Amino acid sequence: MERLQKLIAESGYCSRRKAEELIKNGKVMVNGSIIRELGTKASFGDEIIVEGNMLEHEEKEYYLFYKPRGVVCTTKDDKGRKTVLDFFDETNKRIYPVGRLDYDTTGLLLLTNDGEFANLMMHPSYKIDKFYVAKVKGIVTGYEVKKLKSGILLDNVKIFPSRVKLKRIDKKNNTSIVEITIHDGKNHEVKRLMESVGHEVIKLKRETFGFLTLGTLKPGEKRRLSPKEVKQLYNLSINKN
Ligand code: URA
Repeated sequence: MERLQKLIAESGYCSRRKAEELIKNGKVMVNGSIIRELGTKASFGDEIIVEGNMLEHEEKEYYLFYKPRGVVCTTKDDKGRKTVLDFFDETNKRIYPVGRLDYDTTGLLLLTNDGEFANLMMHPSYKIDKFYVAKVKGIVTGYEVKKLKSGILLDNVKIFPSRVKLKRIDKKNNTSIVEITIHDGKNHEVKRLMESVGHEVIKLKRETFGFLTLGTLKPGEKRRLSPKEVKQLYNLSINKN
C-alpha cells in the first residue's frame, strides 16, 4: 500500500504535488468513493480514477542507452528519421527519453516510463551534472575557457558550467577538444555555450549523467538500470534540492 498521491505520480499522470491538489479538490476516486484525505493509502490493485481517467499501471522500466549519431530523441518523427525507440522492442514502446540529445549528438541517454522519475531528472533545480566532450572548430584559448567558467548568458539566465577543460588542440586541422560539464538542460546548451566564445561544435558526445557512465556499451546498445542505480538517482535529485 502506498500513499495515493505517490501512486498517481508514479503512474506518470502528474507530479506528486499536483496529485495532492487533485485529491484535496475531490477529483480522485478509489473503488467508487471520492477521497479527499491526503494520507489515504491504496495500491494499484484498487480502481483509481483521476479527473475521470482510470489510472493504468505498468512495471517501471529504466534504461541507459548509448545514442548513436543520426537518431532523433522524439518518439515519432514526421521526416521518417530513426528514433531512439527504434532501438527498443515493441513491448517497451511506452518508454520515452529523459531530456534530449540533438540528432547529431551521441552518448548517454536515459529512457523510462516513470513520469515522476523523468520529471525529477529533467528539473533544472536538481542540477544533475552531465559531462560532454565537444570537438569544435578553431583553437580554443585559455581566455575563452575562463570566459566560459565565469558564466555565459543564455535565454537571460547566466549559465555556469561546473567544469570546463581544454583537452587538446589540433593546429593542423584547426580544431580543439573541450570537456565541459553542465547541470542545466537548455536546448543545444553546449553548442550555444561554445558558439558564445566563437567556436562551432562539430562533434558532441555525452559521457556521463550524474554518476552513470557509458561503460562498455557501444552506439545503439542499452542496458537496464539496476534498482540501486534508480534509487541513487532519486537520492541525487533529492539531495540537490
Ligand atoms: N548540448 C547541445 O548543444 N546538444 C546536445 O545534444 C546536448 C547538450
